[in-house]
Amino acid sequence: MRMVDIIHKKREGIELSEQEIQYFIEGYTEGSIPDYQVSALLMAVYYKGMSETETAILTKAMVESGETIDLSPIKGHKVDKHSTGGVGDKTTFIVGPLVASVGVPVAKMSGRGLGHTGGTLDKLESIPGFSIEITKEKFIKQVNEKKLAVAGQTGNLAPADKKLYALRDVTATVDSIPLIAGSIMSKKLASGADSIVLDVKTGTGAFMKTIEDSESLAREMVNIGNNLGRQTIAVISDMNQPLGYEVGNANEVREAVEVLQGKNISDLRNLALELAAHMTILAEVFDSYEEAISTLEKNLDNGKAFEVFKTFVEAQGGDVSVIEDLSKLPTSPYYFEIKAESEGYVSAIDAEAIGVAAMYLGAGRATKEDVINHGVGISLKKKIGDPVSIGETLVVLNSETEVPQDSINKVKEAYEITNKPVEKKTLIYKVIK
Ligand code: URA
Repeated sequence: MRMVDIIHKKREGIELSEQEIQYFIEGYTEGSIPDYQVSALLMAVYYKGMSETETAILTKAMVESGETIDLSPIKGHKVDKHSTGGVGDKTTFIVGPLVASVGVPVAKMSGRGLGHTGGTLDKLESIPGFSIEITKEKFIKQVNEKKLAVAGQTGNLAPADKKLYALRDVTATVDSIPLIAGSIMSKKLASGADSIVLDVKTGTGAFMKTIEDSESLAREMVNIGNNLGRQTIAVISDMNQPLGYEVGNANEVREAVEVLQGKNISDLRNLALELAAHMTILAEVFDSYEEAISTLEKNLDNGKAFEVFKTFVEAQGGDVSVIEDLSKLPTSPYYFEIKAESEGYVSAIDAEAIGVAAMYLGAGRATKEDVINHGVGISLKKKIGDPVSIGETLVVLNSETEVPQDSINKVKEAYEITNKPVEKKTLIYKVIK
């Protein structure tokens, strides 16, 4: 078999066979097929797409390129949750303890942030003492005893995806539906959960900017999961503005804990409940959506989920007193308020621009080597649909040094104000089963 023939075939829009896909994934992982040929193939896939069968084969080949995690020593039905990436998305900190509070084991492997999106691990590390580096044995023991653990990805999971993703990043081939679907699902399948709930973001701050594209991506991933033996469902949720009001590491932990303490930050609370409901239904704890939602709401309001969160933080070495007194979370000395220059209604908040502004403050990484500052961040004071008058604060930026001008400019660019009333954004567009 020759790589040039595979590239040629895909360039002509012809479906690749199982052997051809396996050949290129194996060859690329072991280093016998060079970057320049894989780049050409990726571009052909970008333009010609992949069939459902090809995408499932690609995903399976990427799973088989490395280790898989065996979660069978964990008792019960393991359900994982994955978001395709957004700004201000701290739902894991609510969903995890909420699902665990009804007895479903949550063994979560999470990632770090890159570019305009934050990472769960970085956010958790803003809690003093919290460690995401735990041994496999401790991870399993913790999930069995406390029902919740979050760790960094260990081992050599889907190494083909790691190499391919790095290449896609520099060849303008990231935003291809089959490639994103295969990339995300290969890591999820290698991580060993029995069922998967996907939160597919749609809008200005997401990979997929339109509902149609988001739905195609969601369907593709649901099909892959189900074809490869894991019950998978996808919730398509809004990312036309950041989720909640806080962006940045400690800022996001603070807001998530406030929801666990009963504060009604409606988009964040409702999305967390929705995702948790689907996870607990897949785990067969509840028969109906209504029953799931009402029990989960109860566990949010009576503090049960908050108790699970505190136990989880303690088990991973975090200082629980910080969770009980949120003023002890890291913050920074300099503040800058951005005020409305016209009267009207907020009609848009470009989530990606807010994410980039947070990165400029030091809350995120422009390159993998950058060091995160956990105590800087952005607090939104107004969201889409809110009325504003001239001089009212739209956003507060919190920085380690004088607030950088590029960050201020980005936030200003992100906000649009119109003079006519604007409807609030829909939070959940569709559930794909
Ligand atoms: N996240 C991933 O892991 N892979 C992609 O291709 C896109 C987002």
